[in-house]
Amino acid sequence: RMAAFVDGLMSRMTLGEKLGQLNLVTTNIPIEQERADEIRAGRVGGMLGGLFPCSFGVNGPAGLRAVQEIAVTETRLGIPLLFGYDVIHGHQTVFPIPLGLSCSWDMRHVETAARTAAREASASGVNWVFSPMVDIGRDPRWGRIAEGSGEDPYLGSRIAEAMVHGLQGDALSDPQSVMACVKHFVAYGAPEGGRDYNNADMSPQRLYDVYLPPFQAAVAAGAASAMMSFSAVNAMPSHADADLLGKFLDGVLKVSDFDGIPEMIAHGLGDETGAIDEADPLQTLSERALRAGVQMDMMGKGYISRLEGALAAGRVTMEQVDDACRAVLETKYKLGLFADPFARFDETRVARDLKTPENRAAARAAAADCCVLLKNAGELLPLARTGTVAVIGPLADDHKNILGPWAFQGDPAEAVSVLDGIRAQGVAVTHAKGANFTEDRRMVELLNFAGTKVELDPRPPEAMVAEAVAAAAAADVVVAVLGEAAEMSGEAASRMDIGIPENQRDLLKALVATGKPVVLVTMNGRPLTLPWEAEHVPAILVSWFGGSEAGNAIADLLFGERAPCGRLTTSWPRHVGQVPLSYDRATTGRPGNPAEDPGKYTTRCYLDGSSQPLFPFGFGLGTTSFAYGPVGVDKTELGPDDRLTVSVNVTNTGRRAGAEVVQLYLTDPVASQVRPGKQLRGFEKVWLEPGQSRTVSFALTTRDLEFHDAQLRRVWEAGKFVIGVGPNSAELDSVTVRWNKG
Ligand code: IFM
Repeated sequence: RMAAFVDGLMSRMTLGEKLGQLNLVTTNIPIEQERADEIRAGRVGGMLGGLFPCSFGVNGPAGLRAVQEIAVTETRLGIPLLFGYDVIHGHQTVFPIPLGLSCSWDMRHVETAARTAAREASASGVNWVFSPMVDIGRDPRWGRIAEGSGEDPYLGSRIAEAMVHGLQGDALSDPQSVMACVKHFVAYGAPEGGRDYNNADMSPQRLYDVYLPPFQAAVAAGAASAMMSFSAVNAMPSHADADLLGKFLDGVLKVSDFDGIPEMIAHGLGDETGAIDEADPLQTLSERALRAGVQMDMMGKGYISRLEGALAAGRVTMEQVDDACRAVLETKYKLGLFADPFARFDETRVARDLKTPENRAAARAAAADCCVLLKNAGELLPLARTGTVAVIGPLADDHKNILGPWAFQGDPAEAVSVLDGIRAQGVAVTHAKGANFTEDRRMVELLNFAGTKVELDPRPPEAMVAEAVAAAAAADVVVAVLGEAAEMSGEAASRMDIGIPENQRDLLKALVATGKPVVLVTMNGRPLTLPWEAEHVPAILVSWFGGSEAGNAIADLLFGERAPCGRLTTSWPRHVGQVPLSYDRATTGRPGNPAEDPGKYTTRCYLDGSSQPLFPFGFGLGTTSFAYGPVGVDKTELGPDDRLTVSVNVTNTGRRAGAEVVQLYLTDPVASQVRPGKQLRGFEKVWLEPGQSRTVSFALTTRDLEFHDAQLRRVWEAGKFVIGVGPNSAELDSVTVRWNKG
């Protein structure tokens, strides 16, 4: 039915109307005259909002409805519009940033967060969200590491699937569902030097084994659209990468990133022969992007203005234009827009679906379970409710940064700060700001560039510290809430020093020097380097940017209302000089002692410091302890069709209930090419009461052994495999099995 409907529609469309469907532009609400006229002329296929300066207010569906009415009632063919928005971690109820959410290792949280966002966004009239971002991130200097799920392709793939299910639900046509857009295709997360927009150069095996799998998982889960990456990988911008687009995004609506097509001019790209129309380079690049398979042009304006000429000159074919137009129209059909273009403009849903108590409760639970406890010396946490807590730091009473980057619809007035959350626990509290986010004026200027306001307290830093020290000295315990302003991570927010900013660290040192017990709560969009903190501060809780309910969630953890159970999804370096860093790094010809070997010429060490991460991938503490039994396997010799069952018994040996993330890693010690040192191949989060035991089982097949060989075929090779099970990537007990071909 869909094919017949779309064919029928396309048979009535002019070339201009077809090209109009490929044009994705931004607008404000109420809509500007110029845009309204473009829509009336059939020259717009969709609208986008979210990113400054193109944010349209979607606090209610009325504004967007008015725009849809123009498309449906005032154009020749009445084709409805797509409305795309950057819904990255919640909509009006803001959930933790994706990197934080990934640390829950809990697919229920991930799917619930996505479903809640879908319900809220669709109740606002949005039918398309530019999420999930599945870019693998292994360089914490890169600010957009905040928007992804960390360094691991296996975990990243599971999260990609859960997000797509949550966003798209059981049916795209459900008015409570929105279309997912998996981005940024591909390897945008590997920019050289960690500088956003930089290009990447990597082996094809790494591209295929590490960076592509989450995209494949999202597409297999039904993601109906994909966004290109600004960067070039192995010398090819994704907007021109016909090979990868054809191989991996078949059947998915492929949209450019904002201006991504014209930006290929600055990349120095010409057509496939290296030629360019010097008088009009956008002509050349728009044609090339269409030939490569990019079907919608986000803000590039080249498809709407240049393709007619390209067609006349024979540089693109009618088939290519038709394929792109068909992809857009089929997407609209699947979203149910032709059946009822106004289904997502039900005013009654605003009260029913936005910011409900259920949404807030889900956000609170997720924000707590994504916090990672890195240190808890002397069981400082949970805190007693007696005495006074000094809550100190620039993020302690913050309602805006706590929402994180890409939270356009989150209302700071409705966000719960850490101070609010601790007060709500009914304990005696004092508060001092103690420091600005940073005293680096260049950074503040850059942060304020896009309309963000990083307010600086004009008092001298020493005066602020002195006030905070006085508050700490008069209290029984100090909670120092330090870290990054939201805009210090996210797009265009790369940093070369990834520690807590110096002025905040000075404050922390002064607080520790008071001799009062200090709990450091960090807010951050990236792994931080915390070597001084790890040595001198008794308790460290990483809270990321936790969203609307973060203050309550953090307070729940501090006072034992909930047990910390997050685990890192990135390796945390000791020093920025160690990056990029990931747990799966392959061994070298001079492995030395893999645990720690400073031997010159015998291992890949640094002269001036350890090569190991400060906190490994998968690491996180609870407020209880767990003991692992021996790792068991149901067979040690396997054939190609066999399934291996790996089991381990885990016991809560502490005094409190808690959750453990049991992790399974696979090592292929001998292969036809150098393989990763280990690879995550399973995990399960189990909740255990004190004294309770649970046997956790994992199933492995040859699918888990596969990798890409030099010809980029998926293969597995017979031989020994080491299966490691444990609480994180650095603490594993292992067994060896042999997998045979015959
Ligand atoms: O979705 C974003 C993308 O991640 C970065 N460029 C702009 C797009 C639309 O706002």
